[in-house]
Amino acid sequence: MPDPFTSPVETVAEIPALRKLVEAERKQNASIGFVPTMGALHAGHMSLIEAAHRDCDFVVVSIFVNPTQFGPNEDFEKYPRVVEQDLVKCHEAGADLVWLPTTEIMYPKNFSTCVTVKMLSQVLEGKTRPDHFEGVTSVVTKLLLCSLPDIAYFGAKDYQQQAIIRRMCLDLNIPVEIKTCPIVRDTDGLALSSRNAYLSEAERESALSLSRALKLAEERIHAGETDLNQLTAEMQQLISTTPLLKLDYATIVDAGTLEEISAPQPDMVALVAAYAGATRLIDNCLLSADATD
Ligand code: PAF
Repeated sequence: MPDPFTSPVETVAEIPALRKLVEAERKQNASIGFVPTMGALHAGHMSLIEAAHRDCDFVVVSIFVNPTQFGPNEDFEKYPRVVEQDLVKCHEAGADLVWLPTTEIMYPKNFSTCVTVKMLSQVLEGKTRPDHFEGVTSVVTKLLLCSLPDIAYFGAKDYQQQAIIRRMCLDLNIPVEIKTCPIVRDTDGLALSSRNAYLSEAERESALSLSRALKLAEERIHAGETDLNQLTAEMQQLISTTPLLKLDYATIVDAGTLEEISAPQPDMVALVAAYAGATRLIDNCLLSADATD
């Protein structure tokens, strides 16, 4: 028999119990930071928890693999579930409480409400994964309303996700500050993702073309490139000619509206998405036509 696991950090599953614990902290004037995750935590998630720990008195992390944001042929079933390891990492990064709701808690019988952010959800990831963002925005609304934090933390790797969540909080007057933390990369440039665990050695090597395409965009903009159509064509070429990769998109858009642009402007973002085998990979890089460093 394996030893029973003792969590190094307090955990809770039920929503009333979560609310009671957060409420008790509030009564002591503690500020609340919240980091929503789907588990399989890596250094990127830990940087979010660490940021919350720096900013706030009490840090809540949620771990919930949300079924509604996965498409029918996506990886919901095989998504890595390693809760014991995650609890240790949450503790190390400074979490005070980990919320582990079950699917029944989040989606009880007859659950029928969803939150849709139009426009921003229909482009880029939303084109290939049509119901993905509705699943994300619906669950994030519920996570925020249950934990009622002062600040919620999201990773910049999911650039479109954080833009949509910002829009949603503004539109619905959800009184939570959204903080976006920088992408954490491996030393070779690969953006950390829980899905990197699916990659074979050869696929992982090929996956580096995503960050290389972004680097190309960054360098060329820095050098004064003005033809974004030409530049995105080169990014696409770099990814689509890499063995084992299937390009979805490589584009440069307005950083706020996510609309495609053809000439440089102060706030823009280069975004790429590709499949390495069955594994979907995304990455991005903020660009500024004014960049001088
Ligand atoms: O970014 C994620 O891990 C998920 O989309 C989130 C925000 C936890 C919602 O399930």
